[in-house]
Amino acid sequence: MPDGMVIREGSTDILVPELHSSGGPGKIQGGVFFNEQMAFNRDVSVMFLRAVGRELTVADAMTATGSRAVRIANEVKCTQVTANDISPDTIPYIEANISMNNLQNCVASNRNLHSLFADEAFDYVDLDPFGSPVPFIQSAILGCRKKGILAITATDTAPLAGAHAPKCRRRYQSEPVRGYMCHEGGLRILMCSIARELAKFDRGMKPLLSFYADHYFRTYIQIEEGAEKADKMMDQLGYMEYNMETLERSTSKHYDSIHKYGPFWLGPLHDQEFVSRMDATGMAAEKRCRKYLDLWKNELDTEVFVYDMSELSSYIKKSPAKLADFIELLNAHGKASPTHICPTSFKTDLPLKDVLSLYIDASPDSKS
Ligand SMILES: C[S@@+](CC[C@H](N)C(=O)[O-])C[C@H]1O[C@@H](n2cnc3c(N)ncnc32)[C@H](O)[C@@H]1O
Repeated sequence: MPDGMVIREGSTDILVPELHSSGGPGKIQGGVFFNEQMAFNRDVSVMFLRAVGRELTVADAMTATGSRAVRIANEVKCTQVTANDISPDTIPYIEANISMNNLQNCVASNRNLHSLFADEAFDYVDLDPFGSPVPFIQSAILGCRKKGILAITATDTAPLAGAHAPKCRRRYQSEPVRGYMCHEGGLRILMCSIARELAKFDRGMKPLLSFYADHYFRTYIQIEEGAEKADKMMDQLGYMEYNMETLERSTSKHYDSIHKYGPFWLGPLHDQEFVSRMDATGMAAEKRCRKYLDLWKNELDTEVFVYDMSELSSYIKKSPAKLADFIELLNAHGKASPTHICPTSFKTDLPLKDVLSLYIDASPDSKS
């Protein structure tokens, strides 16, 4: 058994290196990576796969200690899991974790994922790289069986959210948007880049769950087969305008002199019926899981990106109402909801002029 400490996540024991990350983006300390803060991310995988509710072969392609793989094998019924990592240093941890949890349905694998997926295909493929997943997406698609599911994390938040635009252009061939909508923009650029890879194989996608949390983006995609599905998917890519002076924003299927951010995925982020089947009971971060499930389930999925209360208050120069009260007011005139992207942001289908005039009405300054 390699050196380390045992932590319990969900109902699974995991041996991890003594020296590991406990927050932030996480970095390798010692030879093998583990980040305690990603427990929530692993919880979501468990809840997600339980909600799929059918027998699945799973490849956790970049598993490090095997933490996600052994949690899935232990906590999701009817899964056959391959816990793969290119680094030989990870194998003693993966093997210890398989035997510590008495798992018959999990095997350790020490391969470059590109060669693994050239040989074998799975119902569910998980990519969790350091930084950008872009170099691995084509192989992951090849490694996904017909109508399989792809789950992809991106931790290169700075390029995707526009803090490093040249890198976003290089990696994702998209123009990122800055400001309050940068995280929604980053998530939708990641999804667009996956869509464009799928299209090359005449495959389409239906997102089941997509989110931004802590320092990363994550999306779970149901692959759809055939050129028609791929075309339908491509129709959901597009561009946006955002004028920081006027707060004007809109989307367009085509690039023009106004709509120059993107391309983004402009389709839904989640399948809300699917999300409503997910259950947080017994998760490591149960309270947080419940909060996010509630947000995802009720999040309005409009093409127009989030508004933020701070954005409106600095434009109107009046104090904001409470977000919940303001959303209630917006809902009396159209549709609106909180968003998981940021606790001070919301989504609405109302036009900007209505949002602004209702903001003025709702401001505590207007009542004094
Ligand atoms: C961020 S860590 C994964 C963390 C892990 N999923 C968890 O939840 O703890 C990324 C891992 O990808 C592995 N990796 C990098 N390139 C790879 C490749 N081409 N094939 C397989 N694994 C690779 C690294 O060795 C590293 O362990």
